[in-house]
Amino acid sequence: MSGDAPTAAGSGRYYVTTPIYYVNDRPHLGHAYTMVAADVLARWKRLEGREVFFLTGTDEHGQKVQKAAEAAGMDPQAFTDDVSRHFRELTRQMTVTNDDFIRTTEPRHKQACAALWERLAEAGDIYLGHYEGWYAVRDEAFYGPDELVERSGVKYAPSGAPVEWVREPSWFFRLSAWGDRLLAFYEANPDFIAPATRRNEVLSFVRSGLQDLSISRTSFRWGVPVPRDDAHVMYVWLDALTNYITALGYPDTHDPRWHFWPADVHLVGKDILRFHTIYWPAFLMAAGLPTPRRVFAHGWWTVEGEKMSKSLGNAISPVVLAEEFGLDPLRYFLLREVPFGNDGDFSRRALIGRLNSELANDFGNLANRVLSLIAKNCEGRLPAVGETAEADRELLGPVEALPGQVAEALDRQAFHEALERVWAVVRLGNSWIDSQKPWALRKSDPVRMAAVLRNLHTALRTLATVLQPVMPGTMAAMLDQLGVGEGARSLSALASPLPEGTALPAPAPLFRKVEETAA
Ligand code: ME8
Ligand code: MG
Repeated sequence: MSGDAPTAAGSGRYYVTTPIYYVNDRPHLGHAYTMVAADVLARWKRLEGREVFFLTGTDEHGQKVQKAAEAAGMDPQAFTDDVSRHFRELTRQMTVTNDDFIRTTEPRHKQACAALWERLAEAGDIYLGHYEGWYAVRDEAFYGPDELVERSGVKYAPSGAPVEWVREPSWFFRLSAWGDRLLAFYEANPDFIAPATRRNEVLSFVRSGLQDLSISRTSFRWGVPVPRDDAHVMYVWLDALTNYITALGYPDTHDPRWHFWPADVHLVGKDILRFHTIYWPAFLMAAGLPTPRRVFAHGWWTVEGEKMSKSLGNAISPVVLAEEFGLDPLRYFLLREVPFGNDGDFSRRALIGRLNSELANDFGNLANRVLSLIAKNCEGRLPAVGETAEADRELLGPVEALPGQVAEALDRQAFHEALERVWAVVRLGNSWIDSQKPWALRKSDPVRMAAVLRNLHTALRTLATVLQPVMPGTMAAMLDQLGVGEGARSLSALASPLPEGTALPAPAPLFRKVEETAA
């Protein structure tokens, strides 16, 4: 499946983004999901020693946001200031390490949009016309008549959003002229769209023929003004997509951040695939700018089998969940439960199940067993690396291979596979300690006991190091308990063994089990 193959690593720089979120509503679990996934990639690449730029933010213009502001009885700027703040807080609450938080109402962004518009105009890809067709405010998207279904007199987009008939003067982008060039682009860049099933979806849509795209609106005012034509504001998706280059200083290509372009990966939900894989590369190619390396569309979370929505009142707060179960277990669950790219259903039972069995039992027990044996039998000091016995390779071989396997899976955004690899080593650690029985060696062969515990310590150090991006707080505590100083927590530091005799603090449990209760 070429679409799932890793992105060519290219340079030492790495740029990862989330969508910028509409400020029509408070953040929920779905928004946290993309943020956490992007955060894991950003943290992993930093562990690899790469220079990382990680961007998230809020999408604040358009009819949908304007309507939400009206419904709240607020001026749109005051409204977006307020809601945007909740998304910014969410980054902190999820310990997301974004390097910037962009808001599309910022002056820097309006300048970038105007500059991009001018480039498209200079290239001859923009013309003034008249739009007449279907529009879904909820999706901020235009749809062709053949894409709609009708139920009790109302027409709906494939997303389920109701559409309305729009008729107004509009500027257009000559998207119809880009179909063949897009198809050639996808062919030359087989890893651009992932997962592979999404790639097929996009290819067949483009092959069926593209219409010119309406890129301005005149029936409302809440948007970036079109240069030299005050009656129009830019279509919110042209405005929104531009955020990815605004944050790098566009149009100032001498900005120190500009060298992060093109993005290594835009993480998005499958709902916004078309915008990122058709419109965005077309705009960029038309403007003579490099295209992103990859767009990964992840799946959709439902809650106990139902679509999460404001109207159903079942939107899950990631903050409330993190308070109840711990932030790191939640981060782990989100990336472990569902293969990235597939849809998933959130249930408390599934979360509790993984927390108890994988975190508290598998990982927690391994850590407790090893650390309390060292505390009891080695005076709480790290034993020396002993002579290598044959049995050691059974453990250390897989331990040494683990960072490379995790790196490979994460380059495909296969978070669940990365975690499966890690847990294979966790389980191996537990079975290896059972077979080596260090507690029984205490009297019979204390030298071998020390070597066994040292090997298990090495395994735990590797596990905790590679898990830092997923569970940063807990793994920092684990590394503290393992005596690994803050300067020794990168992947390359794994090559340098800790000095024998390093004093280890008293071990303390990392995860607490949760009783399963009715929801
Ligand atoms: O589309 N499951 O913003 P948005 C998984 N502003 N992910 C979910 C989710 C769910 N149930 N609900 C939301 C927009 N998401 C535009 C984007 S980008 C230039 C502009 C996540 O507020 C997922 O990443 O509707 C999805 O793509 C995004 O939130 C949509 O957020
Ligand atoms: Mg949406």
